Amino acid sequence: MSVGEKMRRVLSSPFDSRRGNEAPRRVAGATVSENAGRVTPATASARPERGPHTGRGARTDGGRAGGRTRPAVSIRAELVPVVTRRLLTGWMGLAVGSLVVAGLFAILVAFTRTPAVQLLGSANAFHLSLVAHVTFAFTVWFVAFAGAFWIYAAWRANYRLNAFLSWTGLAVAALGSAAMAVPAFIFSGRPYLNDYVPVIDHPLFWAGLAATGAGVSLQALAYLAAWWAARRRPASPDDALPREVPESLGMAVAAVAMLLAFATVIVTALTVEASVPFGYRLRALFWGGGHLLQYLHVATMASVWFVAGAVAVGARSPSPRVQRMLLWSMLPFMLAAAGAYLVWRPEELLVNHLVTILTFGGLGAVGVPLALNAAWSIGGTGVRPWGSPLFSGTALSFALFAIGGVMGVIGFSQDTRVPAHYHGMVGAVTLAYMAVAPTLLDLTGRRQWSERLACWQPYLYGLGLLGLMVGMHWAGGHGAPRKTFGFSWANAPALVALNLMGLGSLLAVLGGLAFVLNVGVPLVSRRAGSWSSEPTSSR
Ligand code: HEM
Repeated sequence: MSVGEKMRRVLSSPFDSRRGNEAPRRVAGATVSENAGRVTPATASARPERGPHTGRGARTDGGRAGGRTRPAVSIRAELVPVVTRRLLTGWMGLAVGSLVVAGLFAILVAFTRTPAVQLLGSANAFHLSLVAHVTFAFTVWFVAFAGAFWIYAAWRANYRLNAFLSWTGLAVAALGSAAMAVPAFIFSGRPYLNDYVPVIDHPLFWAGLAATGAGVSLQALAYLAAWWAARRRPASPDDALPREVPESLGMAVAAVAMLLAFATVIVTALTVEASVPFGYRLRALFWGGGHLLQYLHVATMASVWFVAGAVAVGARSPSPRVQRMLLWSMLPFMLAAAGAYLVWRPEELLVNHLVTILTFGGLGAVGVPLALNAAWSIGGTGVRPWGSPLFSGTALSFALFAIGGVMGVIGFSQDTRVPAHYHGMVGAVTLAYMAVAPTLLDLTGRRQWSERLACWQPYLYGLGLLGLMVGMHWAGGHGAPRKTFGFSWANAPALVALNLMGLGSLLAVLGGLAFVLNVGVPLVSRRAGSWSSEPTSSR
C-alpha cells in the first residue's frame, strides 16, 4: 500500500462520526487512533489520546489518565490545508468576537433586571442593550459559528469549498457585524424589540444586518455548492473521494435553512404593506426568516452533537438511515414555511399561525427524534468522561435542550417564562458549539489556553444558564413581564426569583468568559499547538 493510499485512509477516518471506538491502525509505523485523529509514535500505543476533548486527568474510557502522552507528530499539517485552517480561524474569530459583545450586553441587561443590582438607569439604555445582546448572541454568534462548522464539515467530507466565496462571505459578515456594533456601543438609535431579529433603527445597523445576512448566506451557498458537486463528482483514482458523514448532510440542510431565511426576509421586505405602523412592519419583516433560522440552529447543533459524540466517546448513530431520513425531512417544512410568503401576505402570516405551526411542528417532529438519536448513540457507549469538556459540554447541552423544551411545552404567556424557555434552547445550542470549539481550534494548529479552565467552563456556563432559566421562570409565574425595565410591578417572590436569575447570570457570564479566554486568546495570539509547523500540502 503506497504512502498516498495510507494517508487517504488516515484522511478517511479522523473525526469520522460513522466509526466507533475502533482498534487503532498502524500507518507508517505509527498508531492511528480513530477518535482523536492524531498520529502518535508506536511506543505510545495503549495509552489514551490527550487532546482538546480530554481535560486534565480525563480519559476517553472515563478512567483517570496517568502521566503525559508524547505530543503528536506534525503529520496533521497534511490533514488540514492552509486555506482550511485560515478560513476556520477567520470564521471562529468572528463567532467568538460576537460572543464577547453579546456577553458584555448580557451583563448590562441581566444586572439591570436583578433587583439587588439595577445596573442601568434608563429604560432606553436597557432596551438598546437588550437588542444588542440578542443581535450579537442570536443573530451573529449562531450564524458565524455555523460559518466555521461549514468549513469543518467540508474538510471532513472532502468537499471542494470555493475559498473565494468563503473569504468574501467572511469579510462581508465581519464588516456587517462591526457596523452593527457602532450604534450599540454608542447607545444611538431607537431600539425595536420585535421577536427573532430585534433592531436598532440606525443606518449603520441596517447596513450591517443586511451585510451579515448576505455574508453568511454566501458561505452557506459555498458549502451547498460543494456538497452538491461532491454528490455528482465521478470517482477518480487520484482524487480523495468525498464522504457522506452525518454532519455533512446536517450542514447541507443548515445551508438551505440559511438561504431560505435570507430569501424570505428579502421577499417580505418587498411585499410588506408600507402603510402599517413601523413596529408592526418590523415584526412581519423578520417573522418568517426568524422562524427559518431555527432550522439552521437545530441542524447545526445536531451536526455538532454527531461529531462531539464520535470524538469524545466513539459514538456512532444507532440507525444512520433514520438519522439521514430525519435530516432530510426538515426540508419540506422549511420549503413550506418559506413558500407561504409567495402565497400569503406577510401581515396575514404574522397572525394566522401557519409559519409557527410549520416551524415548531417540524422542529418538534424532527428535532426531538434527532436529539434522542444523538443522545442514545452517546449514552449507548457506556463511556462517561465527565472530565472531558467535549463530553460534559455536550451532555449539558442535551440537558438544557430538554429542560428548555419542557418549559416551552408547559406553556407561558407574555412574561419572563418566554426568555426562560429561550435560554434553554439557545443555551443548548451555545453549549454544544462551545464544547466542540476547542476541537476546531486544534485543527487550526492552536491549543486552548488552559485545560483546567476548559474542564470547568461547561459546568459554569450550563449551571449558570439553568439558574437564570429557573429564576426567570419562577418570576414569570409571579407576573414578571419580559423585556421590561424597573420593578414597579413586582411582588416579593418575583424579586427573589429575579435575584436568583442574577446569580445564575453571574455564573453564566463567568462561564462565557472562560470560553472566550480558552478559545479566543489562542485565536488572536496565534498560540501554537503541538503541531503548528506550516503545512506543505494544500487541497
Ligand atoms: C451569559 C449568558 C446570558 C445571559 C446572562 C443572558 C441574559 C438575558 C436577559 C437578562 C434577558 C432579558 C430578558 C427579559 O428582560 O425579558 C435576555 C434576553 C434574551 N437573550 Fe440572553 N442571556 C445570555 C445568553 C444568551 C445567549 C447565548 C443567547 C442566544 C444565543 C441569548 C438570547 C436571548 C434572547 C433571544 C433574548 C430575548 C428574549 C425575549 O424575547 O423575551 N441569551 N438574556
